[in-house]
Amino acid sequence: MTMFIDAHGREITYLRISVTDRCDFRCVYCMSEDMTFMPRSQLLTLEEIARLAKIFAENGVRRFRLTGGEPLIRKNLVWLVNELSGYPNVQELAITTNGSRLSEQAAALKAAGITKLNISVDTLDVDKFKAITRIGHLPQVLSGILAAKAAGIGSIRLNSVIMRGQNDDQILPLIAFARQHALDIAFIEEMPLGDIAHNREKTFIASDEIRQTIHQRYPLTEALIKPHGGPARYWVYDDGTQGKVGFISPQSCNFCATCNRVRLTAEGRLLLCLGHEDSLDLRAFLRSGKSDYEIAQAIQQGLQKKPEKHEFTVQESPVVFRHMSHTGG
Ligand code: GTP
Ligand code: 5AD
Ligand code: SF4
Repeated sequence: MTMFIDAHGREITYLRISVTDRCDFRCVYCMSEDMTFMPRSQLLTLEEIARLAKIFAENGVRRFRLTGGEPLIRKNLVWLVNELSGYPNVQELAITTNGSRLSEQAAALKAAGITKLNISVDTLDVDKFKAITRIGHLPQVLSGILAAKAAGIGSIRLNSVIMRGQNDDQILPLIAFARQHALDIAFIEEMPLGDIAHNREKTFIASDEIRQTIHQRYPLTEALIKPHGGPARYWVYDDGTQGKVGFISPQSCNFCATCNRVRLTAEGRLLLCLGHEDSLDLRAFLRSGKSDYEIAQAIQQGLQKKPEKHEFTVQESPVVFRHMSHTGG
């Protein structure tokens, strides 16, 4: 089998697919209040996404993650999951979701082949949840998490972005919830993506500080595992409680040297790095009648421009104006 490899010798084995830029939340660190979204006619169809994913699977990609916006608001997503799960050598089929529609969809997603879910939840306080998401629905999200567990999805991780002065009092409640339900949890440093209303310089908290807070209450030991070269570094509880505590620290700890991923945006641009704008217009290839072989060649060639690393720093103005909801992280 051929492999997609970039100019720095990194094998691309993981594709993140944004199936929509729309979302039913408006999280303060992700979106502005008055977002405009892409016209639906610009989006790749699910058939187009499936065709591209197959080309990636045939060239060494073994893991797919569906993101958004909020992926579960895309109609017929289960059809796409079913397709992807039938592709050769697929080892992992994951979704990153805000959980608002999981209660209804968890069982169908599991049946279609989803093996892993990351669910965003930044607070367990109803008022804070409303303030951060600008919408609300915390009870739905919490029952969605439990529905995913009940459906038997083997690997579930909570994702939390902690902001000073907004939800930094939620670190221990979130940990207690994760421990109670034997779930993994990852704390993500806020990244400077998209022009948004709030001042990231004021709210930024480094992973080390969060880890110290947890460690004082629940002592932790670093687990020397890094599943699949993902960005999270993991710690385990010294008291043996099930579930890992992860930290994603793009600002304080760069993991680009082992980057194995590229991203497909909802309108079919292949983004080569989260922190740069370099991209390849795959929709144009699809819609101009190119063969799978020609598209694979164009991807291999385009990958040679994958940047060596991102240049995120703690600063007020974003380094990338594209919003996180455009690519799902
Ligand atoms: P895995 O697929 O298991 O590796 O999970 P993940 O942590 O990559 O996925 P998830 O969608 O839960 O993303 C969590 C956070 O990691 C988001 O804030 C993403 O933006 C961030 N992230 C994912 N990939 C990258 C990357 O290549 N670079 C940077 N800087 N951040 C990333
Ligand atoms: N910085 C860090 N994480 C972010 N997310 C969204 N926007 C940002 C940002 N600016 C998180 C979401 C979700 C994941 C895909 O990315 O909370 O868990
Ligand atoms: Fe919030 Fe995720 Fe929606 Fe962005 S895409 S507004 S982080 S739920």
